[in-house]
Amino acid sequence: MAPKLVCFLFFLLYSQLVLFITFSSASSSSSSPALCHQDQSNALIQFKTAFSLIRRASIYCSDEGIKTYPKTKSWKKGTDCCKWDGVKCENGTGNVIGLDLSCSWLSGPIHPNSSLFHLKRIQNLNLAHNDLQLSKIWPQYASLVSLTHLNFSFSHLDGQVPSQLSALSRLVSLDLGINGVTLESSVWKYLLLHLTQLRELALDHVYMDSIDPSTFSNLSSSLTLLSLNQCDLKGEFPHTIVSLPNLQKLVLSENGDLTGDFSKSSWSKSLKHLDIQFTDIAGKLPNSIGNLKSLQYLDVSGCKFSGSIPASIGNLKEMWFLSLFRNGFSGPIPYSIANLGQLKLLALSENGITGKIPNIFDKLTKLVALSLGNGLTGKIPNTICSLNQLQLLDFSNNSLSGTIPKCLGKLTKLQSLHLSDNHLVGPIPSGKVFRKFGVKTYAGNPGLCGFPLPKKCGRV
Ligand SMILES: *[C@@H]1O[C@H](CO)[C@@H](O)[C@H](O)[C@H]1NC(C)=O
Ligand SMILES: *[C@@H]1O[C@H](CO)[C@@H](O)[C@H](O)[C@H]1NC(C)=O
Ligand SMILES: *[C@@H]1O[C@H](CO)[C@@H](O)[C@H](O)[C@H]1NC(C)=O
Ligand SMILES: *[C@@H]1O[C@H](CO)[C@@H](O)[C@H](O)[C@H]1NC(C)=O
Ligand SMILES: *[C@@H]1O[C@H](CO)[C@@H](O)[C@H](O)[C@H]1NC(C)=O
Repeated sequence: MAPKLVCFLFFLLYSQLVLFITFSSASSSSSSPALCHQDQSNALIQFKTAFSLIRRASIYCSDEGIKTYPKTKSWKKGTDCCKWDGVKCENGTGNVIGLDLSCSWLSGPIHPNSSLFHLKRIQNLNLAHNDLQLSKIWPQYASLVSLTHLNFSFSHLDGQVPSQLSALSRLVSLDLGINGVTLESSVWKYLLLHLTQLRELALDHVYMDSIDPSTFSNLSSSLTLLSLNQCDLKGEFPHTIVSLPNLQKLVLSENGDLTGDFSKSSWSKSLKHLDIQFTDIAGKLPNSIGNLKSLQYLDVSGCKFSGSIPASIGNLKEMWFLSLFRNGFSGPIPYSIANLGQLKLLALSENGITGKIPNIFDKLTKLVALSLGNGLTGKIPNTICSLNQLQLLDFSNNSLSGTIPKCLGKLTKLQSLHLSDNHLVGPIPSGKVFRKFGVKTYAGNPGLCGFPLPKKCGRV
């Protein structure tokens, strides 16, 4: 009896084992991702071999905090391309749907016969930060009709943006920034008409001086990013842009002939980053700016703004960068700025700001750069000395009186100090910090004396 039992048990065990093996192998084959298709694998290898790998081709990546290394170097013929660095395949079909070779040291041109154009299912193509050696944006890109994301920023492209790109009607994100390309008005109108899904559009340094800025009002209301730094835009930018309900980042900076007035617009509550520095945009900062609770970055330096700084600005608790430098702002510095505890930069100089320097510095302990002016009176408050992260302090060209607070000597990180053209008096304090700065720091204050000024201090 006993041997039979053993036999039976063995049989039971064995059959279960077989069952288990069959089951597990079946389930693993149904869940394993499909392998890369041979033709797509070949296309990728051909694409790889069209380039030399030169670190210099991705030189600005580290500036932007992106890791740079040659992703294609590890690609090996005969292995599953879906596992290659930078390649993404679709679950189930194994089609290549993503190629992210940003910052990959690629150096060489892309020709219209490139095997890249065989990857017909590709949805996401990022070749940013490579040296494509003045390649054109070929009409062939229009054959990649599944593209939702196309990124060529910093990739050394040249020539005209072709109207054929309008065939990429699924594009959600397009970045052609920092290249040598030109966008003609007629092409732009075509793109506007067809690329209706766009949520992110970055065209920094794209030469577009023939484009009427009013056409930007026809961008989709789902826009989250619009970046147009140095595009040679001329004329009036539509004031409705700041009202787009999903807009998070708007950059119009360094378009010297761009005008506009956003005073009467209702600014979108989604706005986090607004950079319109060095444009001719004018008007006032609306009181309602205090409702933009997400705003972290506001740069209107070198524009034509006027009026007072609304006290409501003190509601923007996320703000870390606030520059109103070189405009026509007038009136006092609102005390409410004291609430902006995240501020790293506060630049209010070269305006018509008047009154005393308010005691706002207790909570502004993260400040790295501070500039105020140009009509301020009264004394430099001692509380300034609590800003122990400060590297730049510019109070020049005001009418400040009294002495230079000795406690400024505690600001050991100070690299740059400007107190010139005021009515300060008395001795320049001694101490290591003060010895970093020369005559220019203190010039134009006839009442100051002591090193480094030639005027000796009399006995007190
Ligand atoms: C594809 O499969 C991977 C790994 O199994 C999984 O992490 C991912 O979420 C899947 N993607 C989609 C779109 O189903
Ligand atoms: C692709 O075009 C370039 C430039 O016209 C040419 O030098 C190259 O030989 C072509 N490659 C193939 C595979 O046809
Ligand atoms: C384009 O790619 C670069 C590098 O990966 C990235 O920094 C940039 O944000 C991308 N642009 C957009 C619009 O996503
Ligand atoms: C916006 O698009 C509409 C319809 O295509 C067109 O009639 C209108 O002229 C466009 N407006 C601007 C400012 O381009
Ligand atoms: C100094 O301020 C006055 C106005 O108070 C202004 O006219 C002048 O341009 C300013 N100078 C500099 C160098 O900023």
